[in-house]
Amino acid sequence: MQEQICFINGSFVPAGEASVSVFDRGLLFGDGVYEVLRIRNAVVFRPQAHYLRMQSGLDTLGIGNPWNEQEFACLCAELAQRNRVRGGHVYLQVTRGVAPRTHLVPRNLQPTLIGFAAEADLPKWKDRPSGLTAITVSDPRWARCNIKTTMLLPNSLAKQRAADAGAYEAVFVSEDGLVREGASTNVFVVLDDVIYTHPDDQRILPGITRAIVLDLAQAEGLTVKQQPVQVERLQDAHEVFLTGTTTDVGPVIRIDDRPVGNGKIGPVTAALMHKYSELLADETGTD
Ligand code: PDD
Repeated sequence: MQEQICFINGSFVPAGEASVSVFDRGLLFGDGVYEVLRIRNAVVFRPQAHYLRMQSGLDTLGIGNPWNEQEFACLCAELAQRNRVRGGHVYLQVTRGVAPRTHLVPRNLQPTLIGFAAEADLPKWKDRPSGLTAITVSDPRWARCNIKTTMLLPNSLAKQRAADAGAYEAVFVSEDGLVREGASTNVFVVLDDVIYTHPDDQRILPGITRAIVLDLAQAEGLTVKQQPVQVERLQDAHEVFLTGTTTDVGPVIRIDDRPVGNGKIGPVTAALMHKYSELLADETGTD
C-alpha cells in the first residue's frame, strides 16, 4: 500500500516525513481550526461551505487565511487525488504558527498548514435498518463551540464514553438540560410532526450537513423549529437523527438504553436520509 501523502506548509510529503515544531501553537494551545470534508466518487463535496466556515473561524481567532476559495478547493482535490481516495475524507488544519510558549497571543505568525486524506467506510445507514444508538453526557465545553477549533478533548472523551457503552454517539446536554449536539454531529429531534434542532449559536458547530438537511426538510414541506429541546423530551420523541460529514443523516433508535419512538427508523428520518443521499449522488456522481 502506498504511504499516505500529507500536505504541510506548501509541500506534499509522505506521512513519515511530515512533522511540525514542538512550539506549534496548535500543539501547545489547540490554537487553530480544521475542516473535515467528504470525498465521494473521488469528488470533494461542497468545498465552498467548508471554506466559508474555516474563514469565519480564522477571522474570530485573528489568524490569516492562507488560501482563497479556489486554492482551498484545489488543495482538497489534490490531496484526494494524490492519496487515490475515492470514498473517504480530506482534513485541513490551520494553526496560528510557531512561537516560544506564552499565553499571550503572538501576532503575525506564519500559520502552520496541515492536510491529509484517507479512504474511510462511508456511512450507509440505509443498508443497516437497525439504526444507531446514542448516550447523553453533560456538556463540559466552552461557550464558543461555533468555532471549529482543534481543541477537541471533550468531544474525544465523550465519543469514547459512547463507544465504551456500545453506542455510536454521545449527545451533549447543557447544565440546564438542553440537548446541544453530538460529539461529532448535530442532533435533530422529531416531536409531534415538528423537527427541532438547536439554534445556530455559540453552543453548537454550524454543521454543513445540518444546513443542507434544514434546506431539504423545508423543501419537503416539513416544519422545522431551531429551538433547543429539553433532554427529558427525548423520551417522548418520535424520531431522533444526527447529521455530519462522517455520518450523513444517521437514524438514532435508542438513547441511554431506551428506544426512541417505536425503536425503528421513522418516516421523517427515512425521507431525509433518502433526500440527502440523492443530493450527494447528484453532486458527486452515482456509484
Ligand atoms: N465533525 N458538531 C460537531 C461538534 C462536529 O465536530 C461536527 C463535525 C458536526 C457536524 O458538522 P458537519 O456537518 O459540518 O460535518 C457537528 C467532524 C466531521 C469531525 O470532527 O471529524
